[in-house]
Amino acid sequence: MAGFAGAYDSICGRAVNAAIIRIFGGGFQVTLAPDLLDKLSRIVGANKLLMDAEAHVQYGRDWTRVETPSPAAVALPGSIEQVQALVQLANAEGLAIVPSGGRTGLSGGAVAARGELVVALDNLNQIGAFNSIDRSVVCGAGVITEQLQQFAEDQGLHYPVDFASSGSSQIGGNVATNAGGIKVIRYGMTRDWVVGLKVVTGTGELLELNAGLIKNNAGYDLRHLMIGSEGTLGIIVEVTIRLCRAPTDLAVMVLGVPDMPSIMSTLAEFRQQMELTAFEFFSEPALQKVVAHQDLQRPFDEPCAYYALLEFEQTSGSEMDQAMALFEHCLEQGWVLDGVVSQSVAQARNLWRLREDISETIARWAPYKNDLSVVVSKVPEFLTAVEALVNAAYPDFEIIWYGHIGDGNVHLNILKPESLSIADFAEQCGEVSKGVFEIVREHRGSVSAEHGVGVLKKPYLPYSRSPLEIELMRAIKRSFDPNGVLNPGKIFDL
Ligand code: MLT
Ligand code: ZN
Repeated sequence: MAGFAGAYDSICGRAVNAAIIRIFGGGFQVTLAPDLLDKLSRIVGANKLLMDAEAHVQYGRDWTRVETPSPAAVALPGSIEQVQALVQLANAEGLAIVPSGGRTGLSGGAVAARGELVVALDNLNQIGAFNSIDRSVVCGAGVITEQLQQFAEDQGLHYPVDFASSGSSQIGGNVATNAGGIKVIRYGMTRDWVVGLKVVTGTGELLELNAGLIKNNAGYDLRHLMIGSEGTLGIIVEVTIRLCRAPTDLAVMVLGVPDMPSIMSTLAEFRQQMELTAFEFFSEPALQKVVAHQDLQRPFDEPCAYYALLEFEQTSGSEMDQAMALFEHCLEQGWVLDGVVSQSVAQARNLWRLREDISETIARWAPYKNDLSVVVSKVPEFLTAVEALVNAAYPDFEIIWYGHIGDGNVHLNILKPESLSIADFAEQCGEVSKGVFEIVREHRGSVSAEHGVGVLKKPYLPYSRSPLEIELMRAIKRSFDPNGVLNPGKIFDL
């Protein structure tokens, strides 16, 4: 045993059966003892225990690039029993586990940087029983979101939780982070579609929760504690998902608006008269970047401060006329300056790309990402206050705004100037974050609307949650994971 550090501190105070070698530059590498490696490979099979550096980088990180991935091993269990056996072994050996789905997270919740065992659910990827009366389907945790969406479509139904990463995110990870996305205004978050869960607790027991029921008031609903717990309370191994009617003939409108209050007036006007399936926004700098770097055109020539993207179903045949009348009204009021509406599925898809491709486009500037929410009516004053603060502190930083404004969820992205190193940039943004989160607190908002806390937002949790709430969260953590083996160091420290 060469040392004892990091994630292991929270595991019973026991030494892990491993040698920990500090690496110059901050990270460290853990070499597991041969007998522990042997036990792991007897559980999952030697070819499902990945020990090569490439796999460790791939499975040790999510879409954030802040921490250096450094797991001790990556296990790919092929059954729920194997997941249980891994957790039991982790308890016996004092090994930390990072549960891993599609690793598309943006807050470091699935990062393994301290010699943990990554338990990747990729191979629990079966779509199981479908019940057309219950309109429910059983999915292994490793089922890709798009795979479930396609399955639902094949049954003439719909899985409505959607986001740009649906091609690689996994259902288990979506549940663990309560993923939101672009249709929340109409369909809610992942939480709203989970009717059953199988979860391996921190002691390796299997919990079967809610059994597909719509109504179940028999005591506490532990299912909802697990949803959004970011792998700290249990490993999601199977999910029963509710499906719904497929939407009919969706149309997309992109409107240019002069300011934030105008977006809110437009939202209120449309929502008063129509059921919207999405109401998103982005700023002119966001549009400029996405048009410059993707094969896309501006929706119209006139540059506007902000753009609203709204989507609606055409079920009765009159919705397009109604939307056009509302557009005219907003134009007369001066809330809207210009607009376009899709006339085909292809056009609708291209308009959506103006919004959905922003995140990928700006990734090249290593943005400092924030995922904030306030109640919808407070968004304009909130956004103005945050922008003033960032501009005053760092006039040279470029700000890109976009998000799910119909849910009160805005993504503040600060782009890294080329002249700054990632570390210096992160430090400067960390300083400004305190001011931003102070504004969040004043508005009684959230420091993480949909991306989760992970490691990146951990220091800021107290801006959204009271000391009592955090203490109760710790007590819940101790109930499900008394030895602290599951995703230690995420959300809060014990
Ligand atoms: C989005 O809304 O595009 C996603 O949450 C990703 C991001 O914030 O970059
Ligand atoms: Zn988002």
